[in-house]
Amino acid sequence: MIYITGDTHNTIDISNLSAKNLKKYCSWQGRNFKSITYAMVLGDFGLPWYDCPVDEKGIHPEKKDDLYLLQWYNKKPFKILAVMGNHDNYNMIEKLPEVDMFGKKVLKVSDNIFYLKRGEIYNIEENIFLVLGGAQSYDKEWRKLNLNLWAQEEWTVEEELACLKRIENYGTNVDYIVSHTGPIEGISCVESSCDDESCRNAFMKDPNVRFNTKIDKMMTYEKWFFGHWHRDWGYNHRKESKYIPLYSAGVIVDERKF
Ligand SMILES: [Fe+2]
Repeated sequence: MIYITGDTHNTIDISNLSAKNLKKYCSWQGRNFKSITYAMVLGDFGLPWYDCPVDEKGIHPEKKDDLYLLQWYNKKPFKILAVMGNHDNYNMIEKLPEVDMFGKKVLKVSDNIFYLKRGEIYNIEENIFLVLGGAQSYDKEWRKLNLNLWAQEEWTVEEELACLKRIENYGTNVDYIVSHTGPIEGISCVESSCDDESCRNAFMKDPNVRFNTKIDKMMTYEKWFFGHWHRDWGYNHRKESKYIPLYSAGVIVDERKF
């Protein structure tokens, strides 16, 4: 049973994955939280946040928050699968060892924590996921490159082409799409200013939003889950909406029933 939730931001929003929160949202969906096998975080997972040594076993944090989180997540009875966001240390992510999972490659943080690769298509418990990720930080001027801002938050042209090639090979129908920021139609669910064309155009200045919107027009799918906007609109509209923005709420995916 896959549980999908929003940004955890290192220690700031770890309560997303607390037993109390999981129990609440699972019971509201008529399920036992002990059945969770994978918890997916829709970007801004934020571990590792600080640079630290990495080897084939994963990360070896030297800062207490990262170390605490690693130990906390490693005790969870399910695996954590992180989508890449904008507040993620891409310099560290690029150093993580690649390991086999779901018949594809994922990036290992620890035995219990993995990053899903951007632009990959995974079969997770018989559900086909197209994984995107990334977002443009709107507060770049207050951030410091390679300290709390990473250039890789925006996709390269090569990455986009590789993703499109993968879709061409696989086909344009998947069960779910997961990303950090949304496609513009998804963002408009939480940003009423999207009704205004100039505001809509402003959101489209983020190249990640433009790419997601291009993918949205190409694909057929059941639901598109995304984080970044820090809104739980998607939980309350999970049955009728195909766009599911999430923050602290979680939605269960284990059967095609919404
Ligand atoms: Fe965030």
